[in-house]
Amino acid sequence: MTKRFSHVGFILAAAGSAVGLGNVWKFPYMTGANGGGAFVLVYIFAILFVGVSIFLAEVTIGRMGRGDSVSSFRDLATKHKGLWKYAGFISFTPLLIVSFYAVVMGWLIKYVVVSFGSLPENAKAAGSMFGALVSGSVGEQILYFTIAFFAVFYIVSHGIIKGIEKANVILMPLLFIILVGLMIYAMQLDGFSKAVGFLFVPDFSKLQPSSLLAALGQAFFTLSLGVGTIMTYASSLPENNNLFRSSLMVAFLDTIIALIAGIMIFSFTFHFGIDPSGGPGLIFQTMPTLFGKLGLTGHIISTLFFIALVFAGVTSAISMIEPATSYMENYLNFTRKKALYVIGAFVYIVGVLALCSNIKDFNPYLSVASMGFFDILDFITSSILMPIGGLLITIFVGYVMDKDKLKELFVPFMGERIFSIWMVFLRYFIPVIILVIMLNKLFFD
Ligand code: PHE
Repeated sequence: MTKRFSHVGFILAAAGSAVGLGNVWKFPYMTGANGGGAFVLVYIFAILFVGVSIFLAEVTIGRMGRGDSVSSFRDLATKHKGLWKYAGFISFTPLLIVSFYAVVMGWLIKYVVVSFGSLPENAKAAGSMFGALVSGSVGEQILYFTIAFFAVFYIVSHGIIKGIEKANVILMPLLFIILVGLMIYAMQLDGFSKAVGFLFVPDFSKLQPSSLLAALGQAFFTLSLGVGTIMTYASSLPENNNLFRSSLMVAFLDTIIALIAGIMIFSFTFHFGIDPSGGPGLIFQTMPTLFGKLGLTGHIISTLFFIALVFAGVTSAISMIEPATSYMENYLNFTRKKALYVIGAFVYIVGVLALCSNIKDFNPYLSVASMGFFDILDFITSSILMPIGGLLITIFVGYVMDKDKLKELFVPFMGERIFSIWMVFLRYFIPVIILVIMLNKLFFD
């Protein structure tokens, strides 16, 4: 990516990256699996006090480095350049993410197709339908995964990202309207007040060390942090962009969408008596149960909902491939095509293995300590690699970069006071929070 974004181009790309399955698929099921309110509170805390600062830090490295992540860390380090460049390898983490992410996109495409056919009659049927797909149908899943895979790689290799961004100018607001519309519809149901209570009244007895780490990991995941994505996009920022405002806008939008999706989904989850802690199948059980009850309207909303979600996923998936591609192109002098072949082969193989690990017959061969490969990928990326990436970024900007240059870049937009607070966060508060949450899980879980 050598061309510069326009001002709004960066916001669109960063928001496209941030808003995705993390908001509508992962946030609700993680919240359900971790007991609700207390998890949400830690999640919001993590966005505000960790996520936003690291987002800004990543933007800084990208904008000042103006290259791939490895070159940026090397060029901007005031000492130990040879060592710091290795921090740029965080750009490989999103390749692990996109491998299982594209599997979920495959499920969503399958549900676009389902929307045209017969929707499930009740929650039980919806649960069996999802279960049969995920743990029974290898062939079908490989087919849909392959479609998702080629769609994403085709877009990236043919440089039609502009076109996708244009499509998203319609589809993102559409997704937003559907989410808000369904939330308003849900307000008259008994499930609504239960959902609000579940999400916003914290029960701290539910907060295990693993939920704390999961909430931190979810904050990283949803803002696309700690993996070089925001950094790589920021390397194409125009000269005088108000980085502070752009970053706040993206974080705000992303959080609002996750919360609306959560309220909406849990209203129906409780209305239909579905188990909120059921895991990754939550929206695939809840939403089709609802759509199945709405007749023709249900089919229409279902189609739009899943299509909009697929597109939200596409713009996120694209942003997962870009950092490693950019490194291979700039640093290793690969052609873009060669880089995408190498990356594509890796993602395809890992993705198929992830998908197979959910299949009943294959699961025993693709699990470690009763955790399937799909779940392992999800856990390792969100709860280990992303926070470690965040730690490296926060330490780098807080201690290793030239402070005067940072000041020059940011003070015009945020003023001296906020700049100093941000520095204190990066240097002292965030590293401690991340380490404490990670070590707490390691030793006390
Ligand atoms: N933020 C994206 C989502 O919520 C996921 C993502 C993670 C994208 C890491 C890029 C990098 O779906």
